[in-house]
Amino acid sequence: MSLDDLTFVERYGPWALVAGASEGVGAEYARAMAQRGLNVVLLARRQDELDTLAAAVRAETGVETRAVTVDLAGTDAMTKILDATAGVEIGMMMYCAGADPNYASFLANPVEIPLALVHRNCLVPMQMCHQFAGPMAIRGRGAIVLVSSAAGLAGAPNMVAYGASKAFDMVMAEALWAELHDSGVDVLSLVLGVTDTPALRRLLTRRGALADPRDPIPIEGVSTGAEVVREAIANLSNGPTWLVGDHLRESSKLLRALTRNEAVMAMIQQSGGAMAARPDAQVSA
Ligand SMILES: NC(=O)c1ccc[n+]([C@@H]2O[C@H](COP(=O)([O-])OP(=O)(O)OC[C@H]3O[C@@H](n4cnc5c(N)ncnc54)[C@H](OP(=O)(O)O)[C@@H]3O)[C@@H](O)[C@H]2O)c1
Repeated sequence: MSLDDLTFVERYGPWALVAGASEGVGAEYARAMAQRGLNVVLLARRQDELDTLAAAVRAETGVETRAVTVDLAGTDAMTKILDATAGVEIGMMMYCAGADPNYASFLANPVEIPLALVHRNCLVPMQMCHQFAGPMAIRGRGAIVLVSSAAGLAGAPNMVAYGASKAFDMVMAEALWAELHDSGVDVLSLVLGVTDTPALRRLLTRRGALADPRDPIPIEGVSTGAEVVREAIANLSNGPTWLVGDHLRESSKLLRALTRNEAVMAMIQQSGGAMAARPDAQVSA
């Protein structure tokens, strides 16, 4: 039987593990997995939000849930993830946690802050890929989705650790795809442009671009979490990389036509201009 003949649950179940599931894209992705019949392990720092989501998911879909608080920037993160997933078969792993709430120059903070970001965005997803990809490859099915960012396409100010970590995630996913896709495991680097998430809204509010992060007015010209999840699921087997949204797909074409040095200059220019005129256009996204 070919992979295309399997149902979603047979191919990617029975459990999905979502790191960064308490809100935004990760929460939507977890919901979408449950709607397709997968049980879900939900990871993030805020237990209340995870419990609320888990209860809603159970009520809507009847799947099993585990809601486990873990700081993915902590050195004990992997131990907690192993505890959280004990005894269950992970057929789908999505690593979503990753935004930079600071958006500041490299020297503005003590080095521990970018190091913690690198731990959360690079080391922990690498440990998780190593842990969960092996059994998937043996079973000959499964999926790993690593959420990356346009910030990883070229260097830009105020995103030293963040942009570098997102480039790391992109290349890690691409290389894993190269190693695993013949074994039946889908690997996808899911590259996002600016996306309307609670984290983005909190950042815009801190910068004075939004009055209230819970303001229901849509932010114009950016992707929504629902669009991201829809494109991710539709393209699970179209890896190694999927850029989300027409706008990002077009602007990445322009970027690819430039030399690396020109691309950095373009990022600097966009960052300066956009930051002055429209702070949401160059969030550390
Ligand atoms: N929003 C954008 O404009 C944008 C653009 C491009 C790429 N992206 C990427 O999209 C992904 C999601 O971004 P986002 O805007 O939703 O913000 P985010 O801050 O990455 O939040 C997403 C989830 O991650 C969890 N999380 C964050 N830090 C964590 C930690 N140390 N330990 C455990 N969980 C943690 C958050 O929950 P808790 O606070 O409960 O822990 C939340 O559930 C990120 O990878 C980001 O790089 C976003």
